[in-house]
Amino acid sequence: MNVLQKLAISRTQQAVRVSQLCINRNYSKEGSEKKFPKNVIEHLNTAQEQQTNGIVYDKKPFRMELEEGKRYSWCLCGRSKAQPLCDGTHKLVQYKITQRPVRFQVENSGTYWLCNCKQTKHRPFCDGTHKCEEVQKTSGK
Ligand code: FES
Repeated sequence: MNVLQKLAISRTQQAVRVSQLCINRNYSKEGSEKKFPKNVIEHLNTAQEQQTNGIVYDKKPFRMELEEGKRYSWCLCGRSKAQPLCDGTHKLVQYKITQRPVRFQVENSGTYWLCNCKQTKHRPFCDGTHKCEEVQKTSGK
């Protein structure tokens, strides 16, 4: 096993630990009934239901202009070079990545905050989980 493979495995183990520690916590503002944007094609694929999260790419979300009717692929593995979108890196066999990207489409054109910590429970949108202490302690950006 080469150094890159060892590094990939150690970051994957770290991602599993972070997602376990940050699970079931509410990071919305106290007392607010936060509504998250909707992925209107969520019912068309199973990628949304994957049990594991990717590695923390960044400790904050990414603001992006999205067009109604256009399909996007959000990177879940955290290794894409085109964050927050997928560039196909998950297909590289040396990384042994099990996560697939989440295909999504928005209801209305506009500005959206996409999750870049890859730990959100409202894929692909930021739900504040990046504020979790365990995410902030990682070696992500
Ligand atoms: S960046 Fe992932 S929840 Fe905010």
